Amino acid sequence: MGQRALPGFRDFYPAEFADRAHLFATFRRIARRFGFVEYDGPPLEPLELYTQKSGEEIVGQLYNFTDKGGREVALRPEMTPTVARLVGARAAALPKPVRWFSIPQLFRYERQQKGRLREHFQLNVDIFGESDSLADAELLAVACEIMRAFDLGPDDVRARVSDRRLLNALLSHLGITDAQAPAVYAVLDKLERQPQEISREKLALAGCSPEQAAAVLAFGTLDFDAAVVAYGQSPTVQPHLERFAQYRAHLDALGVLEYVHFDLSIVRGLAYYTGIVFELFDAKGEFRAICGGGRYDTLLSSLGGSDLPALGFGMGDVVLGELLRARGKLASTLARPDFWLVPDDGADVPAVLRAARALRRHEFSVVHALDADRLWNRKPRTQMQDAQRQGARAGLRVLPGGVAEVILFDRSDGDAASRRVDLAALLAGDAAASVPVVAQLRDLLAADAAPSS
Ligand code: HAM
Repeated sequence: MGQRALPGFRDFYPAEFADRAHLFATFRRIARRFGFVEYDGPPLEPLELYTQKSGEEIVGQLYNFTDKGGREVALRPEMTPTVARLVGARAAALPKPVRWFSIPQLFRYERQQKGRLREHFQLNVDIFGESDSLADAELLAVACEIMRAFDLGPDDVRARVSDRRLLNALLSHLGITDAQAPAVYAVLDKLERQPQEISREKLALAGCSPEQAAAVLAFGTLDFDAAVVAYGQSPTVQPHLERFAQYRAHLDALGVLEYVHFDLSIVRGLAYYTGIVFELFDAKGEFRAICGGGRYDTLLSSLGGSDLPALGFGMGDVVLGELLRARGKLASTLARPDFWLVPDDGADVPAVLRAARALRRHEFSVVHALDADRLWNRKPRTQMQDAQRQGARAGLRVLPGGVAEVILFDRSDGDAASRRVDLAALLAGDAAASVPVVAQLRDLLAADAAPSS
């Protein structure tokens, strides 16, 4: 006893579980609205799946070990290599584009900090087999519509979007070589958090001239229209600006452009991104990224599967939960039993159990005392108090002859309303005659006006 969960791991008591279930239900609802179907993969994978493709940062955070069969394995730190493997293995047979989502629990040995744990759940939404920017727009629209479903509007959340192809074209237009590019990426990635002077020094160290460094530093505040004015004449940059403009037009028609901010400092740490990349942040900048993703067109072929273009995002439950809680927008409720059953004069314990069985067969959630002696002997009034303490929505007294008295606990008018309902048809298993009785019970619960806390 007295043991606690490992640092960075959470216990989900029912109240926390209810929050998690609320997030997942919203994830599923919106993903399905866009035609995505759910899948899963193994939580434990061969180590090399990540050492080859995920990039240094994640590899340094792996929970890995040698299993009893001598295999090098790792708990999944992200879902993308797994889904790339799954799709790659059946690429020829799957109708394209493939639209899949999943909500895996992921494990990263992170330094403990706000918004970062050592396990988290992450909604993954991915599209395979489509290289057009309409697919990129659709993907970001899913993420933005999820924000909207949580009542987080464009004033609450920003989608910061860049394009690696455009960025590469800009760098080569400035005369920065492929060999210098990784160092420039690293500077861009830290632009917000690092003093300008340090960024400038790092760019100089990477061999950038003062003019090149000034142009790169200006990327941090360059909006899309200014980028068109500054670089639209360059024949190598122009096609990428054109594609990005098309992408923005799609986002506009999809109704999410208000969320979107062009931002060349969004680089993404993971090694496999090749095109449009994005991250979602709270607008006040108080929290870490809510979501990150982008296009990764070469990952499948590099894993030895087929050559399918791909794009997707991951949205974690931790930062989103923190943000919703901070804004008072986490509206989850604990599931409550519909009825708490109590016997009355003349009804015995089996009569209560038969009523419970009949009600459950019609999908009502039904509970009663589990000590038969208490169920039988304790005053109905005291049992009704137990029922309220345990959060039941209504008490149901089982009277002789299959009649029940329903007592609604949540009446906001203070009237602890009670109604008589004849359960005989339910008890007899008469399906047709049960329909109006079930409807009557449902109406009673629905009329139960008080909001639950
Ligand atoms: P990521 O940026 O590493 O991307 O993670 C995506 C989101 O997961 C982050 O924005 C954050 O909300 C959440 N997250 C990541 N690590 C942690 C952590 N240690 N604790 C709490 N939350 C965390 C990926 O993982 C990509 N595989 C996403 C993707 C899917 N790209 C294409 N498809």
